[in-house]
Amino acid sequence: MSSSLEGKKAVITGASAGIGKHIAIKLAEEGCKVVLCSRSEDKLREVADRIKGKDVLVVPTDIRKEEDVKSMMRKTVEHFGGLDILVNNAGVIRYGDMEDFSTEDYKAVMETNVDGTFYATREALPYIKESKGNIVFIGSFDSNHPRSFNPIYASSKWWVKGFAHSIEAIFGKDGVAVTLVNPSEVRTEIPSEDGTLYKDKFNEGEMLEPEEVAETVLFALKRTKNATVSQLDLYRRDKLHDFF
Ligand SMILES: NC(=O)c1ccc[n+]([C@@H]2O[C@H](COP(=O)([O-])OP(=O)(O)OC[C@H]3O[C@@H](n4cnc5c(N)ncnc54)[C@H](OP(=O)(O)O)[C@@H]3O)[C@@H](O)[C@H]2O)c1
Repeated sequence: MSSSLEGKKAVITGASAGIGKHIAIKLAEEGCKVVLCSRSEDKLREVADRIKGKDVLVVPTDIRKEEDVKSMMRKTVEHFGGLDILVNNAGVIRYGDMEDFSTEDYKAVMETNVDGTFYATREALPYIKESKGNIVFIGSFDSNHPRSFNPIYASSKWWVKGFAHSIEAIFGKDGVAVTLVNPSEVRTEIPSEDGTLYKDKFNEGEMLEPEEVAETVLFALKRTKNATVSQLDLYRRDKLHDFF
């Protein structure tokens, strides 16, 4: 049993690349009206072109800036008359030894992955409550485990996990469904430790594809009225081999 997403209004943060781009494409294919936001207007317009013919709104937004997020949500509601789905996807990673980790990198990660997720969720909640809609959080394998090579990124994703489940605890009684999706490595434009983008460094089959994460988000969004898919861990099949 699954429900239709036809006509649902969805905001996807970080929709210009990788996972967010594919979530936006899939949701549009399912008949959603989609709002694409990230900093790069040119890339957002390319995504919008790819899903042309569908209802799509491009709103350049820096998720680290509270006023940007408020304005994006205002434009969304003015344009589409409400909101059913928020996908908190925008995120960045930085690497470095803990003892030399720069404050600039620390802030980039925390202001994007934590502050941005907070701003978007807070601004969306009144509308999502009204529509009894969905909030999806893109966490990570790193939401579930300590990570010696990227402690700040991992901590930001532990925060996302704690926040997502707490939002579920508060707003589930209002009919809001909240889902945390934790992927292991995905072939996107996220950089690896040596700076090479995952999509350039790895071949098909060596990691998850962004489409697979988008399918997982779709699965959660299509559950029937009363169910909430609280958490989905989506790992490369051999991910746990030798991990523990
Ligand atoms: N790839 C992986 O292995 C992996 C694994 C687990 C979880 N994740 C998570 O999945 C999410 C998407 O990552 P991805 O792999 O798809 O990375 P990606 O290809 O680098 O895409 C990141 C997206 O976030 C947006 N973004 C970054 N900073 C932003 C800001 N300040 N304001 C608005 N948008 C911003 C980027 O757009 P602009 O640059 O245009 O702003 C882009 O659309 C992230 O939360 C990431 O932590 C990724």
